[in-house]
Amino acid sequence: MIIAIDGPAASGKGTLARRLAANYRLPHLDTGLLYRAVARALLDAGQALEEVEAAAAVARDLDLWRFEEARLRGREMGDAASVVSAFEPVRSALLELQRRFAGQPGGAVLDGRDIGTVVCPGADAKLFVTATAEERARRRYNELLERREPADLAEILAEIRRRDERDSTRSAAPLRPAEDAVTLDTTALDPEGAFRAAVAIVEEARRRS
Ligand code: C5P
Repeated sequence: MIIAIDGPAASGKGTLARRLAANYRLPHLDTGLLYRAVARALLDAGQALEEVEAAAAVARDLDLWRFEEARLRGREMGDAASVVSAFEPVRSALLELQRRFAGQPGGAVLDGRDIGTVVCPGADAKLFVTATAEERARRRYNELLERREPADLAEILAEIRRRDERDSTRSAAPLRPAEDAVTLDTTALDPEGAFRAAVAIVEEARRRS
């Protein structure tokens, strides 16, 4: 079974994807890490993020396992990833790797922005996980406070809006729900409620397929 999970930044799709993968004993790929790794490699090499050809060359040679996850997870890397992810040659260089991951025997869970629309259009279950920008900013803010990191709610909200805008208006694989995706709005749900709703969506998709 292939489960495709898409949604905007800080929508909780990563947590849901991990929990669904554990629940169905499937391998999980957080595809945002691929774009983050491309941006990280460019910055480490002192190159500008806007150089399309350099970014595509890095994407073609990407060895994700070489990167320490903590160096990819930072807030500024999310922003940097959304710059390189708008380049078509970067996206096509990463496509094969994602499809190979999805195609392993037994299936997989992938989360990102274009899994249901481009990477796995034939996925068995497709979820589009979302929440209001204010709620996503509030969750990010609380996470940072818990980790005792500096946080400014207005700044986080502005960053989330900027990333939503960039991800959904780009011409290459813009962020949007697949026609056959089920939208899960988690604004009013706690993590447990969101997980139960996601399992119900997957079970319903399974019954139908
Ligand atoms: O999901 P995450 O916040 O780690 O993704 C970082 C950025 O990578 C996103 O803002 C988006 O621009 C890009 N991305 C993408 N397609 C994916 C996954 C992530 O364009 N499948």
